[in-house]
This record gives sequence, C-alpha cells and structure tokens, in this order.
Amino acid sequence: MSEKRRLIIDCDPGHDDAVAVIMAARNPKFELLGITTVRGNQTVDKVTTNALNLCQYLDIDVPVCKGMTRPMVREGPPVEERLHGETGLDGPVFPPLTKKLDPRHGVDFIIETLLASDRPVTLVPTGALTNIGMAIRKEPKILPKIEEIVLMGGSYQHGNVTPAAEFNILVDAEAAHIVFSCGRPVAMMGLDITRQVLCHPGIVDRMRQVKTKAGKLFVELMEYFSMTQKRVFGWEGGPLHDPTTMAYLIDPDCIETREMNVQIDITGGPSHGRTNCDFFGLLKEAPKNAKVAIGINVERFWDIVEESLKMYDPL
Ligand code: RIB
Ligand code: CA
Repeated sequence: MSEKRRLIIDCDPGHDDAVAVIMAARNPKFELLGITTVRGNQTVDKVTTNALNLCQYLDIDVPVCKGMTRPMVREGPPVEERLHGETGLDGPVFPPLTKKLDPRHGVDFIIETLLASDRPVTLVPTGALTNIGMAIRKEPKILPKIEEIVLMGGSYQHGNVTPAAEFNILVDAEAAHIVFSCGRPVAMMGLDITRQVLCHPGIVDRMRQVKTKAGKLFVELMEYFSMTQKRVFGWEGGPLHDPTTMAYLIDPDCIETREMNVQIDITGGPSHGRTNCDFFGLLKEAPKNAKVAIGINVERFWDIVEESLKMYDPL
C-alpha cells in the first residue's frame, strides 16, 4: 500500500472547518499530523477550544496548537459571529473539555513538524493564511518539505465579504501573498465551487441516517449553520466551503482545476484581498502559480462526505 499522505490542517472552526477535519481524521489515505488554529471565524482562543472539543468528541488523537491571534499586517474583517455564533461552533453541546492544548505555538508546530518529517507534508489551510505566511517567513527551510498547499479561499469571480474579496484571503491578504508566491504547489478551492455545495435540508436528512458520532455531529453543525446562512444570505443551506479541500485530496477527480497565475491584491484599496486569477491566460509571461478549482462533481462530493461520516464509531 502506498504511503499515507501527511497532512496538517490549519483552521478556524467554524462549522465547515469542523466537517473538513472530520473528513480527514479517519480517512486511511491520510496521516493527520496535527491541527493548528488561527483567528478568523472567531477569536483564536474560541476556535482553538472548538478544535479541542471536536477532537475530544470524535477521539481524534492529534496535537492541537494555537496559532496567530491577529493578521500579519492589517486588521482584517470582524469575526464571523453572524454565521458561526458566539462560540464559533454554536449548535452542538460538547461534554466538559479535558483534551489538553499542545503548548507549542501553531507556527512553531508547523515549522518543527515539517523539518522533522522524513517526507513532504501537505498543508490544508481552511482559515486565514496567517500561520502559513508566518511559518514561511520565520523558517524558509520548510519550503522543500511542503508537498502542496491545498487551501480554501479566494475566487476567480466574486467575493463574499467585499465584491472583490473572500473572507479567508481578506482577513490576511499579505499572508496570502506570501503563500501564493512561495513557489510551492498551491491548489485553491474558491467560492466558485464551494457555492455549488450547499448543505440544504435534504442533505442534512441524508446524513441523519448515518448512525455514527460523526453523523450526529454533522447534523447538529449543519442545522445551526443552515439557519444562519438562511438568516444572513437567504440560502436554503450553508455552502460547505472547507470540505472541498478534503474532497480534492480524497478524490482529485471530484474537482476540476485549471493552472493559472494568481496574484493577491494587497494595495489596500476597494479590491484589497482579491485573488486576481488569470483565468484566460492573458498574462503570457506570468507564472502559473496555482491550480484553481473551476468545477466540482456535486453528487460525488456528498458521497465523499457521507463515506467520511461512516468511518466513525457507531452511536
Ligand atoms: O469564505 C469562507 C471561508 O471563511 C471558510 O473557510 C469559512 O470557514 C471561513 O473561514
Ligand atoms: Ca474556515
């Protein structure tokens, strides 16, 4: 059997981040080395508590390390309390938390783990890119140990916080600039595809039939997330943004990508935080520095989600 793909998930749970972690932790294709957290959907303290609760509830035995509390340069948009609630993971009620936080800073965990690994590691950021940007700047020696950066963020079309910018990129556009220009392979799962995987009530009912702890948690997460998405955007279901990174890693055929030049607008103007994607290859000399997702097999995506939920202990 080929070697498991080593992953570090850098996240801001966040309902959709939580589902991405669920899809990674028990999949036999992966060796999840750890989870690092970053300010985004909520404060870094709150999203860290959420990551610990998630791991404890699902018996995911990996280090959880708290990362950056603020972006590298500018203050980003406010936390997304309107979508994820006061805790950042409103909805489920977890038992008293006993899982301990790993004392290493998230940035240091990324550096130490990459340098110590005897083979390259895939980074899966599903929040702002602050930790990844800081790690690259603090210790450039990690670069050859990065197999790929598979991130949720950006869009080649429209933003979701401003007309130009998607939340994860906008929170720390300068960090995103570092990541997209670091020279390692980047796969960008943007809003263009994540808005096609709306977790509407029919999907929740389908996953309610999965009688595992992960199935139960998925339903509790999505019932809350769908309620806020309807309240804020009028949608019948929440877009499962972050799990598209795991669908790409689990079954690359599920997602169509196109190599193109992507540059992050860090000018501070009305398009600050935009992922400027050269969709038509107009910039002949520009390096094609990212694979950008341009299509998703929605049916296969939900099958992957369901298969993932079934990998956990029965209720
Ligand atoms: O714009 C969507 C992204 O921002 C998702 O990763 C969501 O969890 C929030 O972090
Ligand atoms: Ca996220």
